[in-house]
Amino acid sequence: MSEPFAAVDVIIAKRERRELDDAQIDWVLDAYTRGVVAEEQMAALAMAILLNGMSRREIARWTAAMVASGERMDWSALERRTTDKHSTGGVGDKITLPLAPLVAACGAAVPQLSGRGLGHTGGTLDKLESIPGWRATLSRQEMLDQLREVGAVVCAASADLAPADRRLYALRDVTGTVEAIPLIASSIMSKKIAEGTAALVLDVKVGSGAFMKDRDSAAELARTMVELGSDAGVRTVALLTDMDTPLGRTVGNALEVRESVEVLAGGGPGDVVELTLTLAREMLAAAGLDAARDPAEALRDGSAMDTWRRMVRAQGGDPDAPLPRARHTHTVLTPADGVLTRLDALAVGVAAWRLGAGRARKEDGVQPGAGVEIHLKPGETAVGGAPLLTLHTDEEDRFGPALQALAEAVVIAPEGSSPPLAPLVIDRISA
Ligand code: URA
Repeated sequence: MSEPFAAVDVIIAKRERRELDDAQIDWVLDAYTRGVVAEEQMAALAMAILLNGMSRREIARWTAAMVASGERMDWSALERRTTDKHSTGGVGDKITLPLAPLVAACGAAVPQLSGRGLGHTGGTLDKLESIPGWRATLSRQEMLDQLREVGAVVCAASADLAPADRRLYALRDVTGTVEAIPLIASSIMSKKIAEGTAALVLDVKVGSGAFMKDRDSAAELARTMVELGSDAGVRTVALLTDMDTPLGRTVGNALEVRESVEVLAGGGPGDVVELTLTLAREMLAAAGLDAARDPAEALRDGSAMDTWRRMVRAQGGDPDAPLPRARHTHTVLTPADGVLTRLDALAVGVAAWRLGAGRARKEDGVQPGAGVEIHLKPGETAVGGAPLLTLHTDEEDRFGPALQALAEAVVIAPEGSSPPLAPLVIDRISA
């Protein structure tokens, strides 16, 4: 079959800062999926996009072409309205676990396709897989049944969901082209649009433990994704939230499940509860269900917990089974008296990863019990010699590298001299 374009002409056009037209974009992604555009040609095009950017029209068309490379799910047979959340990834970010059942308990359907973690930020599926028996892979019919009967499903995306993104993301990973905002935004949004949710709340993390280290680039990513969602007919809003310090008091798979269950039981750390409720209200409002129930009430009256237990059981998990625990622990003591003013998210994330909570290559497994328990959060009074962190791992020789990652993680200021804490929710961006 003769091809309407030559890949090299598309690459040169972007290299020369020209806008690609719709036909070029549709063709290049389709031809890449078919193997007609070679990996080295797509790598060159991704680099040209990283250096020269894309217009709003180009990004929207690029995203639509990635959606069209696979199936687009359709939940119109459901009686409930669909709404979902996506986080750009952070340390201790277990919010999906309490959030999905909470929003379902308030009357919406949450069809969340999720991923496993790579690097220092954990993946939602890795956390849920620490629950004995829980399985991530569901058929489309099982998803539909669970959405009807329980209202929330969190499971693995099938290979047919935006397959062009799957290949392109792996290529970007090894060609220094991950950080292009048009490519990140289209990658995330193509999967969420293909997932078929009608409404979407984006939690764009900013800070040391996040993909986006500064507020301006996080805001640009958020705006680009909100525009993409709106252009595709998905009601989308974004919150910029702090990721300079870990969320909650646990980092690591089973440890984070335990903390999420505490939140569902009406307790849990204040920052996790605050973000869960804020995102739940946004998800319900985006779905037009804000007048339904107050999510705080669904945490108090046990209905969110009840939905969680049914959601875990529906996927083969036992919500009453003891969670795995690591074989060894090591406690790090607070070095001085005063007030803790900094607990660096990236350092804690890398420590948890080195303890075995995360993977270095996508083929690796994770230790369900590994991670870091946080005894002291920023703003709290530090007492020299009291427990600061507890490290958990199955392999004792991992403590050394984890402790190295934590060497500069903590700042303690004299009592009374500490600056006020930064707010958790930094900004809100809507269409
Ligand atoms: N997550 C994605 O799914 N894609 C990116 O490009 C970056 C983060």
